Amino acid sequence: MTVFGRPTYADINLTALVDNYRQMSALAIKSKTMAVIKADAYGHGSVAIAQALSNEGAGFAVAFIDEAIHLREYAITKPILLLEGVMCEAEMALAHELNLWVMLHTREHFEWLRNLDPSLRPTVWIKVDTGMHRLGIEFANVNSILTEFSDLLIDCTVLCSHLACADEKDNVANNKQVAQLAELAELHGLDFSLANSAAISQWPSSHGCWNRLGISLYGCTQPVKNKELTLKPVMTLSAPVIAIRTLEKGETVGYGQSWIAQRKTIIATVAIGYADGYPRHAQAGTLAWLHNQTIPLVGRVSMDMLTFDVTGLNQVEVGDIVELWGENVLVEDVAEYASTISYELLTRLSARVKRRYITS
Ligand SMILES: Cc1ncc(COP(=O)(O)O)c(C=O)c1O
Repeated sequence: MTVFGRPTYADINLTALVDNYRQMSALAIKSKTMAVIKADAYGHGSVAIAQALSNEGAGFAVAFIDEAIHLREYAITKPILLLEGVMCEAEMALAHELNLWVMLHTREHFEWLRNLDPSLRPTVWIKVDTGMHRLGIEFANVNSILTEFSDLLIDCTVLCSHLACADEKDNVANNKQVAQLAELAELHGLDFSLANSAAISQWPSSHGCWNRLGISLYGCTQPVKNKELTLKPVMTLSAPVIAIRTLEKGETVGYGQSWIAQRKTIIATVAIGYADGYPRHAQAGTLAWLHNQTIPLVGRVSMDMLTFDVTGLNQVEVGDIVELWGENVLVEDVAEYASTISYELLTRLSARVKRRYITS
Protein backbone atom coordinates (compact mmCIF):
# COMPACT_ATOMS: atom_id res chain seq x y z
CA MET A 1 0.00 0.00 0.00
CA THR A 2 1.33 3.43 -0.86
CA VAL A 3 1.68 5.67 2.17
CA PHE A 4 1.10 9.30 1.28
CA GLY A 5 2.48 12.34 3.07
CA ARG A 6 5.74 13.56 4.49
CA PRO A 7 7.49 10.89 6.56
CA THR A 8 8.60 13.30 9.26
CA TYR A 9 7.90 11.70 12.62
CA ALA A 10 8.40 11.95 16.34
CA ASP A 11 8.62 8.36 17.52
CA ILE A 12 7.72 8.08 21.18
CA ASN A 13 9.19 5.04 22.89
CA LEU A 14 6.82 4.09 25.70
CA THR A 15 9.08 1.30 26.97
CA ALA A 16 11.85 3.84 27.51
CA LEU A 17 9.36 6.14 29.23
CA VAL A 18 8.31 3.52 31.77
CA ASP A 19 11.92 2.49 32.33
CA ASN A 20 12.96 6.12 32.94
CA TYR A 21 10.07 6.52 35.38
CA ARG A 22 11.14 3.41 37.29
CA GLN A 23 14.82 4.41 37.39
CA MET A 24 14.04 7.87 38.69
CA SER A 25 11.49 6.59 41.23
CA ALA A 26 14.05 4.10 42.51
CA LEU A 27 16.29 7.00 43.55
CA ALA A 28 13.65 8.06 46.09
CA ILE A 29 11.93 4.95 47.37
CA LYS A 30 10.35 6.71 50.34
CA SER A 31 8.64 9.23 48.06
CA LYS A 32 5.84 8.92 45.55
CA THR A 33 6.76 10.13 42.09
CA MET A 34 4.38 12.40 40.24
CA ALA A 35 4.81 12.48 36.47
CA VAL A 36 4.78 16.05 35.19
CA ILE A 37 2.85 15.90 31.93
CA LYS A 38 2.03 19.56 31.36
CA ALA A 39 2.51 21.11 27.91
CA ASP A 40 1.21 17.92 26.30
CA ALA A 41 3.74 15.87 28.28
CA TYR A 42 6.63 18.05 27.13
CA GLY A 43 5.48 17.54 23.54
CA HIS A 44 5.18 13.75 23.78
CA GLY A 45 1.35 13.59 23.94
CA SER A 46 -0.14 13.74 27.44
CA VAL A 47 -2.89 11.15 26.95
CA ALA A 48 -0.57 8.47 25.58
CA ILE A 49 2.03 9.22 28.25
CA ALA A 50 -0.56 9.05 31.04
CA GLN A 51 -1.93 5.80 29.66
CA ALA A 52 1.56 4.29 29.44
CA LEU A 53 2.22 5.19 33.10
CA SER A 54 -1.15 3.96 34.34
CA ASN A 55 0.33 0.95 36.16
CA GLU A 56 3.22 2.84 37.73
CA GLY A 57 1.42 4.36 40.71
CA ALA A 58 2.10 7.80 39.38
CA GLY A 59 -0.08 10.81 40.01
CA PHE A 60 0.13 13.45 37.33
CA ALA A 61 0.83 17.17 37.30
CA VAL A 62 -0.24 19.69 34.67
CA ALA A 63 -0.08 23.48 34.64
CA PHE A 64 -3.78 24.41 34.54
CA ILE A 65 -7.28 22.99 34.39
CA ASP A 66 -7.63 22.90 30.59
CA GLU A 67 -4.82 20.37 30.42
CA ALA A 68 -6.45 18.25 33.13
CA ILE A 69 -9.89 18.33 31.48
CA HIS A 70 -8.29 17.02 28.29
CA LEU A 71 -6.90 14.05 30.23
CA ARG A 72 -10.22 13.35 31.94
CA GLU A 73 -11.97 13.42 28.53
CA TYR A 74 -9.67 10.56 27.57
CA ALA A 75 -10.56 8.57 30.69
CA ILE A 76 -7.39 9.21 32.66
CA THR A 77 -8.66 8.67 36.19
CA LYS A 78 -5.59 9.13 38.43
CA PRO A 79 -5.29 12.30 40.56
CA ILE A 80 -4.00 15.27 38.62
CA LEU A 81 -2.36 18.22 40.35
CA LEU A 82 -2.87 21.70 38.88
CA LEU A 83 0.55 23.25 39.43
CA GLU A 84 -0.70 26.80 38.85
CA GLY A 85 -3.99 26.30 40.68
CA VAL A 86 -7.33 27.61 39.46
CA MET A 87 -8.43 30.92 37.98
CA CYS A 88 -11.74 31.42 39.88
CA GLU A 89 -13.96 29.96 42.61
CA ALA A 90 -16.08 28.01 40.13
CA GLU A 91 -12.96 26.22 38.90
CA MET A 92 -12.24 25.19 42.48
CA ALA A 93 -15.62 23.41 42.57
CA LEU A 94 -15.03 21.89 39.14
CA ALA A 95 -11.67 20.60 40.34
CA HIS A 96 -13.45 18.69 43.12
CA GLU A 97 -15.91 17.24 40.63
CA LEU A 98 -13.05 16.01 38.41
CA ASN A 99 -10.83 14.78 41.27
CA LEU A 100 -8.14 17.35 40.50
CA TRP A 101 -5.75 18.57 43.17
CA VAL A 102 -5.44 22.32 43.38
CA MET A 103 -2.38 24.40 44.23
CA LEU A 104 -3.29 27.33 46.49
CA HIS A 105 -0.79 30.12 45.98
CA THR A 106 -2.60 33.33 47.03
CA ARG A 107 -4.69 34.20 50.07
CA GLU A 108 -7.75 34.51 47.83
CA HIS A 109 -7.44 30.83 46.89
CA PHE A 110 -7.86 29.89 50.58
CA GLU A 111 -10.98 32.05 50.73
CA TRP A 112 -12.45 30.40 47.63
CA LEU A 113 -11.84 27.03 49.22
CA ARG A 114 -13.46 28.07 52.50
CA ASN A 115 -16.54 29.32 50.63
CA LEU A 116 -17.21 25.81 49.34
CA ASP A 117 -19.18 23.30 51.32
CA PRO A 118 -16.59 21.03 53.02
CA SER A 119 -17.93 18.02 51.11
CA LEU A 120 -17.25 19.83 47.81
CA ARG A 121 -13.67 20.90 48.47
CA PRO A 122 -10.88 19.48 46.31
CA THR A 123 -7.62 18.15 47.74
CA VAL A 124 -5.20 21.05 47.89
CA TRP A 125 -1.48 21.66 47.93
CA ILE A 126 -0.08 24.95 49.20
CA LYS A 127 2.65 26.64 47.24
CA VAL A 128 5.23 28.36 49.40
CA ASP A 129 7.74 30.80 47.97
CA THR A 130 11.08 29.71 49.41
CA GLY A 131 13.21 31.68 46.98
CA MET A 132 12.08 31.20 43.38
CA HIS A 133 9.91 34.34 43.69
CA ARG A 134 7.60 33.24 40.91
CA LEU A 135 4.58 31.66 42.57
CA GLY A 136 3.56 30.90 46.12
CA ILE A 137 2.71 32.46 49.47
CA GLU A 138 5.57 34.68 50.62
CA PHE A 139 7.62 32.88 53.21
CA ALA A 140 7.17 35.70 55.72
CA ASN A 141 3.35 35.35 55.54
CA VAL A 142 2.94 31.62 55.31
CA ASN A 143 2.75 30.85 59.03
CA SER A 144 -0.03 33.32 59.64
CA ILE A 145 -1.98 32.09 56.60
CA LEU A 146 -1.63 28.45 57.64
CA THR A 147 -2.83 29.37 61.13
CA GLU A 148 -5.74 31.46 59.87
CA PHE A 149 -6.92 28.70 57.54
CA SER A 150 -5.92 25.72 59.71
CA ASP A 151 -9.47 24.32 59.44
CA LEU A 152 -8.80 23.75 55.72
CA LEU A 153 -5.65 21.69 56.26
CA ILE A 154 -6.20 17.96 56.19
CA ASP A 155 -3.94 14.92 56.20
CA CYS A 156 -3.28 14.95 52.49
CA THR A 157 -2.52 18.67 52.29
CA VAL A 158 1.01 19.07 50.92
CA LEU A 159 3.33 22.05 51.26
CA CYS A 160 5.00 22.58 47.93
CA SER A 161 7.86 24.68 46.64
CA HIS A 162 10.13 24.75 43.59
CA LEU A 163 13.91 24.95 43.50
CA ALA A 164 15.43 27.84 41.58
CA CYS A 165 18.85 26.21 41.03
CA ALA A 166 18.27 22.47 41.30
CA ASP A 167 20.68 21.77 38.46
CA GLU A 168 23.55 23.60 40.19
CA LYS A 169 24.99 21.03 42.53
CA ASP A 170 27.05 23.42 44.63
CA ASN A 171 24.54 26.24 44.92
CA VAL A 172 23.81 26.92 48.61
CA ALA A 173 20.42 28.38 47.69
CA ASN A 174 19.20 24.80 47.36
CA ASN A 175 20.05 23.96 51.00
CA LYS A 176 18.23 27.05 52.14
CA GLN A 177 15.08 26.23 50.20
CA VAL A 178 15.10 22.60 51.38
CA ALA A 179 15.58 23.65 55.02
CA GLN A 180 12.84 26.28 54.91
CA LEU A 181 10.23 23.97 53.44
CA ALA A 182 11.13 20.95 55.59
CA GLU A 183 11.01 23.03 58.80
CA LEU A 184 7.71 24.58 57.86
CA ALA A 185 6.20 21.18 57.07
CA GLU A 186 7.37 19.80 60.38
CA LEU A 187 5.99 22.76 62.28
CA HIS A 188 2.53 22.28 60.79
CA GLY A 189 2.61 18.46 60.72
CA LEU A 190 2.25 18.39 56.92
CA ASP A 191 4.06 16.59 54.11
CA PHE A 192 6.07 18.45 51.53
CA SER A 193 6.96 18.29 47.84
CA LEU A 194 10.02 20.02 46.43
CA ALA A 195 12.14 17.86 44.13
CA ASN A 196 12.07 18.06 40.33
CA SER A 197 14.21 15.80 38.11
CA ALA A 198 17.57 17.32 39.00
CA ALA A 199 16.76 17.30 42.71
CA ILE A 200 15.48 13.71 42.66
CA SER A 201 18.78 12.76 41.13
CA GLN A 202 21.20 14.75 43.25
CA TRP A 203 19.51 16.18 46.37
CA PRO A 204 18.14 13.35 48.55
CA SER A 205 17.40 15.87 51.31
CA SER A 206 14.89 17.54 49.00
CA HIS A 207 12.85 14.36 48.57
CA GLY A 208 9.38 14.81 50.04
CA CYS A 209 6.22 12.72 50.17
CA TRP A 210 5.79 13.48 46.47
CA ASN A 211 8.57 14.30 44.00
CA ARG A 212 7.70 15.90 40.68
CA LEU A 213 9.44 14.24 37.78
CA GLY A 214 9.50 16.10 34.46
CA ILE A 215 12.37 16.27 32.03
CA SER A 216 14.15 13.06 33.11
CA LEU A 217 10.96 11.09 32.58
CA TYR A 218 11.46 11.91 28.91
CA GLY A 219 15.08 10.71 29.05
CA CYS A 220 17.00 13.96 29.25
CA THR A 221 20.13 13.37 31.27
CA GLN A 222 21.57 16.87 31.47
CA PRO A 223 22.07 18.59 33.79
CA VAL A 224 21.21 15.49 35.80
CA LYS A 225 24.51 13.66 36.15
CA ASN A 226 23.88 10.56 38.20
CA LYS A 227 26.03 7.59 37.28
CA GLU A 228 23.38 5.14 38.48
CA LEU A 229 21.08 6.31 35.71
CA THR A 230 20.84 5.00 32.16
CA LEU A 231 17.95 7.12 30.98
CA LYS A 232 16.93 6.76 27.36
CA PRO A 233 15.51 9.54 25.18
CA VAL A 234 11.82 8.85 24.70
CA MET A 235 11.44 10.94 21.56
CA THR A 236 13.24 10.37 18.26
CA LEU A 237 12.62 13.09 15.72
CA SER A 238 13.33 12.10 12.14
CA ALA A 239 12.75 13.41 8.63
CA PRO A 240 13.56 12.32 5.07
CA VAL A 241 16.17 13.59 2.66
CA ILE A 242 14.18 15.11 -0.22
CA ALA A 243 16.98 16.51 -2.43
CA ILE A 244 20.73 16.16 -2.91
CA ARG A 245 23.04 18.54 -4.80
CA THR A 246 26.73 19.25 -5.21
CA LEU A 247 28.04 22.76 -4.61
CA GLU A 248 31.35 24.09 -5.87
CA LYS A 249 33.72 25.94 -3.54
CA GLY A 250 32.38 29.47 -2.95
CA GLU A 251 28.71 28.62 -3.56
CA THR A 252 26.25 29.31 -0.74
CA VAL A 253 23.32 27.57 0.94
CA GLY A 254 19.99 28.98 2.07
CA TYR A 255 18.54 32.34 3.11
CA GLY A 256 20.97 35.21 3.42
CA GLN A 257 23.67 33.11 1.72
CA SER A 258 25.18 32.86 5.18
CA TRP A 259 26.98 29.56 4.66
CA ILE A 260 29.68 29.43 1.97
CA ALA A 261 31.17 26.15 0.77
CA GLN A 262 34.90 26.03 1.50
CA ARG A 263 35.30 23.04 -0.83
CA LYS A 264 33.23 20.98 -3.18
CA THR A 265 30.30 19.97 -0.90
CA ILE A 266 27.38 17.58 -1.13
CA ILE A 267 24.25 19.02 0.43
CA ALA A 268 21.25 16.96 1.56
CA THR A 269 17.97 18.84 2.01
CA VAL A 270 15.80 17.39 4.78
CA ALA A 271 12.02 17.87 5.14
CA ILE A 272 11.65 19.55 8.52
CA GLY A 273 12.02 23.17 9.62
CA TYR A 274 11.13 25.77 12.20
CA ALA A 275 7.39 25.39 11.52
CA ASP A 276 7.80 21.88 12.91
CA GLY A 277 9.60 23.12 15.99
CA TYR A 278 13.19 22.64 14.88
CA PRO A 279 14.89 25.73 16.35
CA ARG A 280 15.44 28.48 13.81
CA HIS A 281 18.47 29.68 15.74
CA ALA A 282 20.32 26.36 15.49
CA GLN A 283 23.78 27.32 14.30
CA ALA A 284 25.69 25.84 11.41
CA GLY A 285 27.45 22.81 12.85
CA THR A 286 24.43 21.52 14.83
CA LEU A 287 24.58 17.77 14.44
CA ALA A 288 22.08 15.26 13.09
CA TRP A 289 22.51 11.53 12.40
CA LEU A 290 22.51 9.69 9.08
CA HIS A 291 23.93 6.28 8.11
CA ASN A 292 25.42 5.87 11.60
CA GLN A 293 27.37 9.10 11.38
CA THR A 294 26.90 12.66 12.53
CA ILE A 295 26.28 15.29 9.86
CA PRO A 296 26.51 19.08 10.38
CA LEU A 297 23.76 21.55 9.66
CA VAL A 298 24.74 24.19 7.09
CA GLY A 299 22.89 27.39 6.16
CA ARG A 300 19.90 28.88 7.92
CA VAL A 301 16.96 26.83 9.16
CA SER A 302 13.98 27.36 6.84
CA MET A 303 10.31 26.97 7.67
CA ASP A 304 10.08 23.44 6.26
CA MET A 305 13.62 22.44 5.32
CA LEU A 306 17.11 21.96 6.71
CA THR A 307 20.34 21.52 4.78
CA PHE A 308 23.21 19.26 5.89
CA ASP A 309 26.73 18.70 4.63
CA VAL A 310 26.89 14.99 3.75
CA THR A 311 30.13 15.15 1.73
CA GLY A 312 31.88 12.45 3.73
CA LEU A 313 29.08 9.90 3.50
CA ASN A 314 28.68 7.15 0.94
CA GLN A 315 25.55 6.81 -1.12
CA VAL A 316 23.18 9.27 0.46
CA GLU A 317 19.87 8.97 -1.37
CA VAL A 318 16.57 10.77 -1.50
CA GLY A 319 14.31 9.03 1.01
CA ASP A 320 17.06 8.32 3.54
CA ILE A 321 15.92 9.13 7.06
CA VAL A 322 17.84 11.63 9.20
CA GLU A 323 17.56 11.67 13.00
CA LEU A 324 17.36 15.27 14.21
CA TRP A 325 17.37 14.22 17.85
CA GLY A 326 16.95 11.00 19.75
CA GLU A 327 19.38 8.35 21.00
CA ASN A 328 22.24 9.28 18.69
CA VAL A 329 21.97 13.06 18.83
CA LEU A 330 20.73 14.26 22.19
CA VAL A 331 18.07 16.95 22.17
CA GLU A 332 20.11 18.64 24.90
CA ASP A 333 23.01 19.03 22.44
CA VAL A 334 20.80 20.41 19.67
CA ALA A 335 19.39 22.85 22.23
CA GLU A 336 22.84 24.05 23.16
CA TYR A 337 23.59 24.87 19.52
CA ALA A 338 20.42 26.97 19.49
CA SER A 339 21.20 28.69 22.83
CA THR A 340 18.20 27.12 24.51
CA ILE A 341 17.24 24.08 26.60
CA SER A 342 15.78 20.68 25.82
CA TYR A 343 12.50 21.66 27.51
CA GLU A 344 11.86 24.33 24.92
CA LEU A 345 12.65 22.13 21.92
CA LEU A 346 10.46 19.27 23.15
CA THR A 347 7.48 21.43 24.09
CA ARG A 348 7.62 23.41 20.86
CA LEU A 349 7.45 20.45 18.52
CA SER A 350 4.46 21.39 16.42
CA ALA A 351 1.28 19.45 15.68
CA ARG A 352 2.51 19.12 12.09
CA VAL A 353 4.94 16.42 13.20
CA LYS A 354 3.09 13.12 13.44
CA ARG A 355 3.63 11.24 16.70
CA ARG A 356 4.08 7.46 16.46
CA TYR A 357 3.91 5.45 19.67
CA ILE A 358 6.21 2.45 19.84
CA THR A 359 7.39 -0.08 22.39
CA SER A 360 10.83 -1.62 22.22
C1 LIG B 1 6.33 23.39 39.64
C2 LIG B 1 7.10 22.39 38.83
N1 LIG B 1 7.40 21.20 39.39
C3 LIG B 1 8.09 20.26 38.71
C4 LIG B 1 8.53 20.49 37.41
C5 LIG B 1 9.32 19.43 36.69
O1 LIG B 1 10.66 19.88 36.52
P1 LIG B 1 11.70 19.05 35.66
O2 LIG B 1 11.14 18.99 34.30
O3 LIG B 1 12.95 19.85 35.73
O4 LIG B 1 11.81 17.70 36.30
C6 LIG B 1 8.25 21.71 36.81
C7 LIG B 1 8.72 21.97 35.45
O5 LIG B 1 8.71 23.02 34.89
C8 LIG B 1 7.52 22.69 37.54
O6 LIG B 1 7.21 23.88 37.02
